[in-house]
Amino acid sequence: MRILDTTHIPFNRPYVTGRELDAIAEAVSQAHLSAGGSFSNRCRALLEEVLNCPMALLVHSCTAALELSALLLEVGPGDEVIMPSYTFVTTATAFALRGATPVFVDIRPDTLNLNENLVESAITERTRAIVPVHYAGVACDMSALAQLADAYSLALVEDAAQGMCATYNGQPLGTVGALGAISFHETKNVTCGHGGVLVVNDEQLMTRAEVLSDKGTNRSSFFRGQVDKYTWTDVGSAYALSDLAAAFLWPQLQESASITENRRQLWNEYHSGFADAEREGLLRRPVIPDGCDHNAHMYYLIMPDRAARDRLIAELEQARINAVFHYIPLHSSPAGRRYGRTHASLAVTDDMSDRLVRLPMWNGMTPALIDRVIDAVVKTLGRSLRPMSVPVR
Ligand SMILES: Cc1ncc(COP(=O)(O)O)c(C=O)c1O
Repeated sequence: MRILDTTHIPFNRPYVTGRELDAIAEAVSQAHLSAGGSFSNRCRALLEEVLNCPMALLVHSCTAALELSALLLEVGPGDEVIMPSYTFVTTATAFALRGATPVFVDIRPDTLNLNENLVESAITERTRAIVPVHYAGVACDMSALAQLADAYSLALVEDAAQGMCATYNGQPLGTVGALGAISFHETKNVTCGHGGVLVVNDEQLMTRAEVLSDKGTNRSSFFRGQVDKYTWTDVGSAYALSDLAAAFLWPQLQESASITENRRQLWNEYHSGFADAEREGLLRRPVIPDGCDHNAHMYYLIMPDRAARDRLIAELEQARINAVFHYIPLHSSPAGRRYGRTHASLAVTDDMSDRLVRLPMWNGMTPALIDRVIDAVVKTLGRSLRPMSVPVR
């Protein structure tokens, strides 16, 4: 018998609505388990409605959506793609796989998103695309980035892995650039274990996106009766999500608004719980700029320095609370150095990566658990930290 440890607060627990198994049973009874079944079609239609986009292709991961983006844009050796170093590894591997060079640009100290003011100086005659990452489901400055992309004829590909149900000036994340990639990995707000969606906003890319995601064939046109047989027409791979996984996703997508609302309440609880500590200069809380409606994907704190961050994580572990740091910047990794290029200083990236701690955050966490985390953090601050002589930036 498995004994549940009720005193331990995990960093993440995938949310389950309770209707997933029924949906999977329905998919099984329909005898269509691979991609393109009824649940895939329902999820796609709902996503296109919620995101208000012309095409939402269900794929097996956000990584697949990013790789499809690189294929669609035909980036290759000699091309450069601008992105933050402060991101998940597949933002970069998707483009490095095609032989393109990720060019790492520093982030903003407030949102930890790509610093739009530094992007123009990183553009060369080899630049093909800008890939902003909406960290923690808080939007990048998409107006500034879209203007740059227009001015230099570059593609804008949003890594909105963390951005489901978040908006920028009212527009869903993933729908501002030519292409957007969203994740349904188990760590994300809405999940099917591992899945994702490629949001195709540039209508000129739609037909090819469908072909590339379906092993380079025009099978979708065949099923719509637009061609009398289907055949190999282009490069591609098996990127589409299985209908079994889409069945799991379906009830989650239907509940996405209430999932977001619930997470926001938890996020707000954390935020008000740390207001005094921020006022006293002991830590810094997340910043949400005007126009960004975030999705409470994560709650993090910025500590005064790395030692304070490491001490906090260790002391929380003692209190049976699992908190983690985030990300080790890509430019400092062996493959980042081999395949990427650093543009100017990445001082903010290095600094934030040293000081950030992510707190447990999952749908189903109770206010009592949030309070336990807040109390444990505040206790640690009182015991081991001195207020900074300058405010924590
Ligand atoms: C910013 C970012 N990009 C890409 C990914 C990859 O998503 P997936 O696991 O769905 O492939 C993640 C996943 O954590 C992410 O956070």
